[in-house]
Amino acid sequence: MPSPYNDKRTVAKLVSDLEKAEKLSGRGKAYKRVCNLSHSTKKVVSWKFNEWDYGKNNITLPCNARGLFISDDATNPVIVARGYDKFFNVGEVNFTKWQWIEENCTGPYDVTIKANGCIIFISGLEDGTLVVCSKHSTGPREDVDRNHAEAGEKQLLKQLTERSIDPSDFARMLYTYNITAVTEYCDDSFEEHILEYPLEKAGLYLHGVNVNEAEFETWSMKDVSQLAYKYGFKHTQSFTLNTLKDLKEFLENCSTSGSFQGQEIEGFVIRCHLENTGKPFFFKFKFEEPYLMYRQWREVTKDYISKKSRLFKFKKHKFITNKYLDFIIPILESSPKICEDYMKGFGVIELRNKFLQSYGMSGLEILNHEKVVELELRNAIDYEKVDEHTKFLIFPISVIGCGKTTTSQTLVNLFPESWGHIQNDDITGKDKSQLMKKSLELLSKKEVKCVIVDRNNHQFRERQQLFDWLDELKEDYLAYDTNIKVIGVSFAPYDKLPEIKDITMRRVINRGNNHQSIKWDELGEKKVVGIMSGFLKRYQPVSLRRSPDNMFDLMVELDFGEVDSSLTNAKQILSEIHKAYPILIPEIPKDDEIDASFRKSLDYKPTVQKRVGKSNCNQPKTPKLIKPTYISAKIESYDEIIDLARQGIANIAELSQQFEDLLTSGKFQNELHITLGHVMSSREKEGKRMWKSFCKRYTDQITKYNDRLIENTAGTSINQGKSVETTDKLKFRLKKLCWDQKIIAIVVELSGGEGGCIIDSNGDNVKELYCQNKVPHITLCKLGSDVKAVYSNVLCEKVELNEIDERVKVVKLNNAKEFAAHVYLNM
Ligand code: GTP
Ligand code: MG
Repeated sequence: MPSPYNDKRTVAKLVSDLEKAEKLSGRGKAYKRVCNLSHSTKKVVSWKFNEWDYGKNNITLPCNARGLFISDDATNPVIVARGYDKFFNVGEVNFTKWQWIEENCTGPYDVTIKANGCIIFISGLEDGTLVVCSKHSTGPREDVDRNHAEAGEKQLLKQLTERSIDPSDFARMLYTYNITAVTEYCDDSFEEHILEYPLEKAGLYLHGVNVNEAEFETWSMKDVSQLAYKYGFKHTQSFTLNTLKDLKEFLENCSTSGSFQGQEIEGFVIRCHLENTGKPFFFKFKFEEPYLMYRQWREVTKDYISKKSRLFKFKKHKFITNKYLDFIIPILESSPKICEDYMKGFGVIELRNKFLQSYGMSGLEILNHEKVVELELRNAIDYEKVDEHTKFLIFPISVIGCGKTTTSQTLVNLFPESWGHIQNDDITGKDKSQLMKKSLELLSKKEVKCVIVDRNNHQFRERQQLFDWLDELKEDYLAYDTNIKVIGVSFAPYDKLPEIKDITMRRVINRGNNHQSIKWDELGEKKVVGIMSGFLKRYQPVSLRRSPDNMFDLMVELDFGEVDSSLTNAKQILSEIHKAYPILIPEIPKDDEIDASFRKSLDYKPTVQKRVGKSNCNQPKTPKLIKPTYISAKIESYDEIIDLARQGIANIAELSQQFEDLLTSGKFQNELHITLGHVMSSREKEGKRMWKSFCKRYTDQITKYNDRLIENTAGTSINQGKSVETTDKLKFRLKKLCWDQKIIAIVVELSGGEGGCIIDSNGDNVKELYCQNKVPHITLCKLGSDVKAVYSNVLCEKVELNEIDERVKVVKLNNAKEFAAHVYLNM
């Protein structure tokens, strides 16, 4: 053993540096914890930094020790226990890159096996008091249910007693040498980590001896071994390699086999020295596997226990992890006790071992054979088999308006428990594959057997995409051995396209706004016709001999008719699936049930019935009304208002000129109005309520409009996009002109105030009806082609809140006159 180092014990400077660092708020902040010792009235202070502050080029910490305990002594503080300077994995930081190591370090390289437990520092005071610490604490604690320091101490005392060593002698020896024994406490009966430490392997593994100084100084492994031997510590395996080349070769060998001498280990710690200072330098080399796989198993098990639902999605080791889950789920289900212990960290390794045993392979063997095994087993699964575990997906092939949704609804209504329906039109985000994700998510439910993936899929490319997504995503949601049969349903026979065009066009007109994306009011006739024709033009009908259509397990080819086509469709689909897959449809529902289900699905979209209705549908329904897009007060006094605005800016030459230019070049709005409510602003709660009140107030006008529309569309011409006058009025005064780089608007003041701003034909205020916009205004002129009228809201609100910069011009207008304007519904 080396002789005791000369006395560099006092560390007043270090303590003052640490205290300074404690006051920092960001980088390099130190944290302190004062600990009462178990066997002394003295106290020690544990110091630490944020994990991420170590090893940074731009942060110099007062001390790099991970684990640092200093006596709580204002005049003569000493280091009581000290961990290693924080060290890093190969490649983790700049100074553990191989090249850096090569250029800056010198051998020999002491390689030690990294034990997998918790770190315990052991040290002694002058009076023979033992001080046993975990990484950042020592002594009794109220705030934890597992005291690592105390458990380590218990283990140490046991070990010393076995050797008949007086603990205080041991403590004094540590004090005399001014050292900390750095050990790893590995013991599954105390706490499980990833690797197994059964009773015979449990104990304190001594892996280092540090000098209690601010500068990192540590004993050689030879001396560490001797100390371990003398005091009964578990020995840390170590050996020396002389050159970096040998070291690298050795590590490479181990990482291909993922083990060391046939054992699963976490990795190695390598000790060498810095070439120019001769100071000790540590780095580690950690194995990823089987560690990572085991950790994943632990996490999925915990996940299962807490959620009781099974995950299928894993980054790595997908196949074997699913096998593992297959095996452990029944065990977990059978014993709440096992689950409870597991959540506390007990039985983790046992469960893993049980699985490995039943699987007949060690973790390392699995890793080496994973791919092979996976492929073999995969081949053994009979994906053709159709039984009660088989699930079904239905992909339509269609163009717009052929009745996919109505037919799907009819079917799903018949089997509400076991069939599901996901509509592409319900998917709004950017991720298009959500269609498949949602479908698979639904299909993964135990009771769900069949999901209709409602999209047109009118081209090969789209059908291919569905198959690709299915392939890619299936195992994220369903067990690897689930068979899925894919049924195609072709809605649009190629030779009937002209008819289809006619009928679907009429249907879509009637459907009006009753669709997620194809909204008649918003798009208008031209656009809708354009979209629909696009589909018809690009349509690639099913071609069973070529890919991807040859991948369907069954193809139902529907005819297309006008009357009750979705009912006929549903019946044909039921009958063909029943024939091919009686497991899915063991019995075809009775005609009247199918009928009722079809009616219900039409009910869901009531516009239809009114339109096609009279002659062939007998269900009493009210049609879905086309409602206004916005409601506004239309201003008749155009010239007067422009004049007042003109007067307002008469003294501002630059504005005045621009105003006239804009006016003469026709950039001003052709028609002026004050928006009272907009369907879009009914998204917020308050807005929604107000919008409803408006629609209620004008129910009669809306109904009348709809009636007229339906009459018109029975013919060929389509009447929409009109505004409908009401008998209500709005009275207002001009307030100010607001002008920025995008828009010119006038803030107005509505008469009526608290009582509501709308005035009925008797001249009374209509209660509870207010302008939806926070700041009522008139948009005069949009200054760019991409500026939206709603932007006026933004500008006027900013002006009213006085949150504007110098680019916004605000001019008070003459408010002497009260204007009146009629309320219009804009359909
Ligand atoms: P997109 O989603 O736009 O591609 O249309 P889709 O194929 O889902 O068609 P949808 O089921 O929405 O049907 C279009 C319109 O026709 C709807 O208003 C339906 O209510 C109506 N419709 C569908 N099938 C029938 C039917 O058999 N009889 C009657 N009377 N109307 C139907
Ligand atoms: Mg649809």
